[in-house]
Order: sequence, then C-alpha cells, then structure tokens
Amino acid sequence: MNILLLGSGGREHAIACKLAQSRRCTQLFIAPGNAGTAMVGTNVNLNPEDFAEVGAFVLSNHVQMLVVGPEAPLVAGIADYFAQTPALRDVMVVGPSRQGAMLEGSKDYAKAFMTRHKIPTARYQTFTADTLSEAEAFLDSLQAPYVLKADGLAAGKGVLIEDDLATAKAHLREMLGGKFGAASASVVIEEYLSGIELSVFVLTDGQHYLLLPSAKDYKRIGEGDTGLNTGGMGSVSPVPFADKAFMKKVEDRIVKPTVRGLRDEKIDYRGFIFVGLMNCGGDPYVIEYNVRMGDPETESVFPRLKSDVVELFEHTAQGTLDECSLSVDSRTAACVMMVAGGYPESYKKGKEISLGTDIEDVQVFHCGTKNADGRLLTNGGRVICTTALAPTLPEALLKSYNRAADINWEGKYNRRDIGQDLLKLMIGQ
Ligand code: AMP
Ligand code: GLY
Repeated sequence: MNILLLGSGGREHAIACKLAQSRRCTQLFIAPGNAGTAMVGTNVNLNPEDFAEVGAFVLSNHVQMLVVGPEAPLVAGIADYFAQTPALRDVMVVGPSRQGAMLEGSKDYAKAFMTRHKIPTARYQTFTADTLSEAEAFLDSLQAPYVLKADGLAAGKGVLIEDDLATAKAHLREMLGGKFGAASASVVIEEYLSGIELSVFVLTDGQHYLLLPSAKDYKRIGEGDTGLNTGGMGSVSPVPFADKAFMKKVEDRIVKPTVRGLRDEKIDYRGFIFVGLMNCGGDPYVIEYNVRMGDPETESVFPRLKSDVVELFEHTAQGTLDECSLSVDSRTAACVMMVAGGYPESYKKGKEISLGTDIEDVQVFHCGTKNADGRLLTNGGRVICTTALAPTLPEALLKSYNRAADINWEGKYNRRDIGQDLLKLMIGQ
C-alpha cells in the first residue's frame, strides 16, 4: 500500500525506516520530511496542518495509510477530518481523534481523566485569572518546589518548576496574564514528584493495546542534567530500572486503566500513547500523556522493533490489535543527539555536514537536515543523531559515541554523558 507519514524530525526518520522495510509498503511519502527521510521514501512539500492539502495529496496518490508523527495536526483534528470526509473515510489513520489528542492538548483535561480513572499522578488544581487568589492559596498549601503548567500546548516550554514561593506566584501571574498566550489562560498547579523519569509507549486501537519498549530521554542541554530544556539530547531503551515488577505496576495501574478509560468514555483512539512517568521509590506516577511517539525516544525504541510496523498499524486502525504480538530486539539501543551550537537558544542553520563512515549496528537518523545543491546542510536545532544496538548499555553507548564523533559541522555540540546516570544506578552508586 501507499503510506503518507507526516512530520520532519528524527522521530519521523526512524518511523520511515521501519515503514519502508515492510513488504506491505509500496510507496512511502513523508511530508515535509528531511534529508534522511528522502533516502527511504519520497519527501513531499505539504503542511501537515493544512488538512485539505493533505487530503488532496492522499487522494491523488492513492494513499491508504496516514501516519501522524507530531501532535499539532492531531490536536487540530486531522483524524476527525479524515473520518468525516467521505472520500477519505477509508484511509487508515494512525493517530487519535481530536478528543483523544486532548490528553496532550490540555493538561487540565489529562489530569481530570487520570482522576476519573484513578490513575496515579501528582495532586493538582487548575486555575484561571478569575481564581488567582485561590491559586495563590493552593501554592501556599504546597511544599517547594512548585510546579506550574500552562494548560495548552506551549512548544514544550509551558512547565515551570520554581523553588521560591514568591517567584512561583510571580510566574503564575505572568502565565495567567498571557505569557504563553491562550495556552496559559488556565494553569495547572501540582505537587512536585521526586524520582527518576522514564517514558513508556503504548500502541492502542482504543480497545486493545501493545506495550512498546520503555525509554529514557535526556531533556537538558548540559551534562549532568543542567541548563535549559531541549527537545531531547539522547535516549536509551530499555530502561534498566524498568524491570518486570515495575512494568507490571505500570501496566496494571496506568496502561490498563488508561485504555479502559478511553474505551468507556467512547473516545476514538487509534495510535500511540506516550506516558511520561516518574518512578517514585518503585511506584509509577504519570507526569504527562503525549499522543504521539517521543523524539528522540523513537530513535531508540523503533530500531528495536522486529515486528512488521505496517501490519501493526493496519491492526491499530482496524481495531484488531488483539491479533498482534510484538517482537522486540533484546539488545540495548543508545541514541546520541547532535545539535547546532547555541541551541536551544539562537543558532545558525545552513552549515555543511560531513557524515563520516557507517559502522555496523549503528543507524544515523536525520532530524534538522536538508539537501541543497548536492550538499547536506543543517536545518534545525537538533540536527542528527546516532543509535547503536549492542548487547549491553556500555557497548551501545561506546558505539553510538564513536559513530557520532565521525559526524561534523561547524558548531556541532552533543552531551557526553547520555546513559551515565543509568550506568551508575546499575552498579548501585
Ligand atoms: P511535562 O511537559 O508535563 O512533561 O513537564 C516537563 C518536565 O517537567 C517533565 O519532564 C518533568 O521533568 C518535569 N515535571 C513535570 N511535572 C512534574 C512534577 N509534578 N514533579 C516533578 N517534575 C515534574
Ligand atoms: N522527548 C520528549 C518528547 O518527545 O516530548
């Protein structure tokens, strides 16, 4: 069949590689894609948020499956647009309806969903400008650090964690005053959870689910988890502390009630659920839901999938995921992200990249790259990443870093400590 994948990052390059491997895939289109996706399929210059444009392309190119990488088109209702447009109704869409996507699109909606379904999460309340004094009183009742979250999508910048009460109150007033526009017209204030974070990925057809491998990402720009937040500077899969006993708790307390909740509330959800979790002394708590795969978690999770991803997606779209099982490579994947100098603040694009030489069992995924006049150029903050598969985490890290050292452009930066926290945990430090 012909498949259209929406998005342009490393996540999409990693998904595209798996789609292209499938015998079920005839032609793969990626919109808008990057220089990496152009090596495994055909890039098309479409705006994923212009549904009419996407729909017209799907019809004229006999696309039978639409896979949505990023959250924005989902939150804007692309799955509903396809379901409600007669000519597009039979296209299989991998990605939830607008209502399902509210699990990511509104923190308040997600927290209320978790409360209804008794899913463990931090205690919270939601406030608007009209309830500022109640919000301040709620902050007074909590212990530092204080966690403030813009209700809506704020390009990953909408969460503030502050140690000082007066500063937290000042941030609260700024947020309710429009710091993140409409996204912070409502603000969720919640208890701080201390522990170690991990991401769990679920593929669901709204009735049944498959648990994909877990992963850990590294969000801060600086080594030792310091400095500004980024989209993600690397990832590791599986997460060593997410052992059988912990994952059973995750499944029983979080995944099953989430899927049951979607089903009971009749929410059309056919796609990924990315559960951001905190491991608090051995017990999992949900920090957030995302309605897509993570980036760069996909770059370490997808290379480990041995099942035919197109078949999994067909069953997802058709509601028959109970007929599938998942086959996963038992090796560890380690992904190292390389970024443009200055990222996540201002940085330059258009630097020529030298790709170096391929190594066995190491994949290179493009994130922000483009081809111009036969040259490969940087075209974003996160530029390119390497993922190595190896029997152990230290070996995977060594291979991934060796490959990354061979990729160069002016201003390239990467963290050198991806996975080190996990290695320390493993040796009990
Ligand atoms: P979110 O966008 O909800 O994932 O939040 C961004 C980051 O803030 C998370 O990845 C956590 O590191 C941190 N965070 C969010 N909520 C909490 C919380 N209740 N306690 C501790 N850290 C949190
Ligand atoms: N790596 C975190 C995310 O994709 O949201």
